[in-house]
Amino acid sequence: MTEPTQTPEPGIHPAEQTHAAAGADVDVKAVAPPGSESILDTAVLENPFGADIEAKAQEIIARYPFSRSALLPMLHLVQSVQGYVSQEGIAFCARQLDLSDAEVSAVATFYTMYKRKPCGEHLVSVCTNTLCAAVGGDAIYKRLQDHLGADGTPLGHEETAGEPGTPGSITLEHAECLAACDLAPVLQVNYEYYDNQTTDSAVELVDALRRGEKPAPTRGAPLSDFKGAELQLAGFFPEDEATYRAEVDGPSQAVETLRGAQLAQERGWSAPVMKDVPLPEVQK
Ligand code: FES
Repeated sequence: MTEPTQTPEPGIHPAEQTHAAAGADVDVKAVAPPGSESILDTAVLENPFGADIEAKAQEIIARYPFSRSALLPMLHLVQSVQGYVSQEGIAFCARQLDLSDAEVSAVATFYTMYKRKPCGEHLVSVCTNTLCAAVGGDAIYKRLQDHLGADGTPLGHEETAGEPGTPGSITLEHAECLAACDLAPVLQVNYEYYDNQTTDSAVELVDALRRGEKPAPTRGAPLSDFKGAELQLAGFFPEDEATYRAEVDGPSQAVETLRGAQLAQERGWSAPVMKDVPLPEVQK
């Protein structure tokens, strides 16, 4: 049975969502274009993380028995400041957690949610995994590549239309299954869902984002921006109940997702009872 998604309570929480895509591109040489800053360079640039961010880092670290366990939300905190995991961000995490730059880099380059280049105000992720691809995901991605590109050059994976971080800028990526196959084809903006998309609706959506609008997602929380979403993933939510309800809360379940459970309930179906069989011996 599909469980409705739990909405976190207001206040500070451990980050609970980090996606690792199987087969994610972890080619370290591809982290930065030739001639630009490399994610593995050891030189520490000027620290852009002020006292307020250090205080947040300490709050994150205090949630865990061992400081190194705080690395994933710390990387989201870094992205909430700079819109990507910069070399300075890696050095910041390493200093705070008593890790080496290489240890932090190894994690940051493994997970697809940690970006190696500055993102736009919004991150648009188009699912091009099998089911979405078959019912239009590939066509949506191609159309957005062409629409957001310039001078006849389509926008590439993880490339940004507009100056990264400025209003209306959009980073486009293709994504593996976004766990909404029953609503395919889907895309996400800053990890909020836009279900049952078409090429035209996707173009309308990115055009609205470029105009500074924030169209409501099909379900879930209202749309913020990439950095705002990253702060939430680091576990920071508005303390004020009303603000929290307005900015973070929202029903995330879909009718389609619950349909199977509903049918089973109406028809009295249930899963067979699991027999209490002892587990096989583990070989030494
Ligand atoms: S294949 Fe697109 S959400 Fe699963």
